[in-house]
Amino acid sequence: MRDALIRRLNIAVFGSGRGSNFHAIVSAIQRGEIPGAQIAVVISNNSNAGILALARANDIPAQHLSEKQFRSLDEFAEQVLATLRAYEVNFIALAGYMKRIPPHVIGEFRKRIVNIHPALLPKFGGAGMFGVHVHEAVIAAREKVSGATVHIVDEEYDRGPILLQRRVSVADDETPASLAEKVLTLEHELYPEALRLIAEGKLLSNN
Ligand code: GRF
Repeated sequence: MRDALIRRLNIAVFGSGRGSNFHAIVSAIQRGEIPGAQIAVVISNNSNAGILALARANDIPAQHLSEKQFRSLDEFAEQVLATLRAYEVNFIALAGYMKRIPPHVIGEFRKRIVNIHPALLPKFGGAGMFGVHVHEAVIAAREKVSGATVHIVDEEYDRGPILLQRRVSVADDETPASLAEKVLTLEHELYPEALRLIAEGKLLSNN
């Protein structure tokens, strides 16, 4: 009975780097904490990305797909969509993906793409706000709290509707590196939790 309420998530994870959030999501799925969810494929623009190696180590299909391999953004978008169709993907989770998702893909997956950002959006998002730069900006602004945000991806970079946020305090002697570590630990809890709530239909309605 309860199963009927679960939204089956066949997820593509897009990432460009080490893949620690991807790893947290895979681990949560393996522990049975995200009912009805599986990772169908991992896509990276970077052939050397840790996320691709991690996917292969977990027997999850891993694809290197970059705009640079194609003549135009449209051709790239078509290949991304073909890959997503081939793996019957119905949901996309960005985890450290450093490239823009082509508008065509956003249109096809409207309200079915989420991202995690290492700050409390709408503050500290947008151009240049990635990696350690985010934490440097938070400390420079003398913020007393920071955190992580899971949000919907739409055409406006880092501006899509916020789904879930959690906070950490910023200590007086905080450094960008120490804050990055704190926030990343939080992300590893928050992202699987957001996906669980989505699977349970509690966060993002299935329409
Ligand atoms: C995370 O801090 C995430 O918030 C940001 O990129 C980073 C990715 O780290 N979007 P990882 O590849 O998941 O380890």
